[in-house]
Amino acid sequence: MSDESTSKWKVITDLKTNVVKSIFRNPLPSSDRGRAATSFTNLFLHIQPVKVSKHSLKPTYTFGLGLICMFLFIILAVTGVLLMFYYVPSTTQAYDRMLDLRGAVAFGGFLRNMHRWAAHAMVAAVFLHMCRVFFTGAYKPPREFNWVVGVVLFLLTLFSSFTGYLLPWDQLAFWAITVGTSIAGYAPLVGKEMKFVLLGDSNVGQEALLRFYVLHIAVLPIVLSTFVAVHFWRIRKDGGLAKPEEADENAGFQTVTIPLYAQDGGVPMAAAATVAAPIELPRRTFTIQGLVRGPFVKVGKLKEDNVYSWPNLLEAELFVFVLTLVGVLLVSLFFNAPLEEPVNVMHPPNPAKAPWYFLGLQELVSYSAFWGGIGIPTIEVLMLFLLPYIDRTKVGVGRWFAKERLLPNTLFMLFAVINIILMVIGIFFRGANWEFVSPF
Ligand code: HEM
Repeated sequence: MSDESTSKWKVITDLKTNVVKSIFRNPLPSSDRGRAATSFTNLFLHIQPVKVSKHSLKPTYTFGLGLICMFLFIILAVTGVLLMFYYVPSTTQAYDRMLDLRGAVAFGGFLRNMHRWAAHAMVAAVFLHMCRVFFTGAYKPPREFNWVVGVVLFLLTLFSSFTGYLLPWDQLAFWAITVGTSIAGYAPLVGKEMKFVLLGDSNVGQEALLRFYVLHIAVLPIVLSTFVAVHFWRIRKDGGLAKPEEADENAGFQTVTIPLYAQDGGVPMAAAATVAAPIELPRRTFTIQGLVRGPFVKVGKLKEDNVYSWPNLLEAELFVFVLTLVGVLLVSLFFNAPLEEPVNVMHPPNPAKAPWYFLGLQELVSYSAFWGGIGIPTIEVLMLFLLPYIDRTKVGVGRWFAKERLLPNTLFMLFAVINIILMVIGIFFRGANWEFVSPF
């Protein structure tokens, strides 16, 4: 090679190296220090701890359910934005746009399938994740507030799915929302006003479609993303996922001192930050410095059952992501999202059913409008919010169905099973005029 072409080649490789270096501050890590530095200096990775306990990585502990919720939300955001390029929130155009998606837009039907099935899956995954957190006692101090944030996420997920239900503007959408919003109308004192604010009118029509659209594509995703960020931040601040030993060794909060050092010279960049909070038992203290510079500094009783997040946690997350995506893709390939006849306000289907996750409530409403529509759901939601402040014993944390938690686990199981049974009755066993029918 001539000198001239060698120097040209060098300019190109230097340029490439400089660009890559400006984005990724560290090469692919091959040492513990590198693994820590990689987690620390990358926006997406620094959300995670540098080290994570082996217990939290066990697939049978979380079943990856929290991550599945998160990945489904990402799939929904991506497919939702693509669908927005075609959708028009108008009662005269929405249904035709659905037909266009199915017949005229490349991959339009597939995209809609993905969005629809991911939405259903997210409702189910969030519920299952909540059950996992309960049955492992992971809502106990110091995680009470994160449980509350989780309950808000659960409600936001239901509401996001519910608002999306109306958008195709077919018979299924129209009557499901008509039934769903009339349940809200049963609330004492403010029921009618609440329904009016939601629909922008006394019935489901253009105003309701626009309101549901704005809530569905802007308000709820922004609020949900904010709460997810708080949720993840709290997981870090609460010391990662709940572990059995933690409950015994580390009641209450701990004091963590964080001296900040420049990477090269070891010169302090800022004063040490100390986060202090009440604590009942001997505390353990460690420094972030210990994680990034050489061996892991242990003070007090901290047990070394931790492994580096890079690559252990990252690989697990990637695996769950691929699994979730493949699951959604496969279901979308084989099953089409329903699209019924266009809206006909004169011909309600018999029975008109709410979305499946509200069918338990609809079943209850068939016995008592007030108790089914408002009384019982309000009590259930209040109980969920208050639960971690009522059940404060620190036994059986971080273990599935710990025998010390037999009573709370049995009560929660009862709550979950009753709700599921009511839903199954509503979905499969109710026919015309809400009469009992056999699906077999
Ligand atoms: C959009 C919905 C949600 C997302 C994206 C989400 C995400 C996550 C993730 C990724 C984790 C850590 C890994 C895991 O436990 O699988 C987690 C943990 C946790 N979540 Fe959620 N979550 C959601 C809803 C909920 C709900 C409905 C609750 C309860 C009502 C809840 C309560 C908790 C608690 C208390 C933890 C800490 C668990 C522990 O320390 O073991 N989350 N969440």
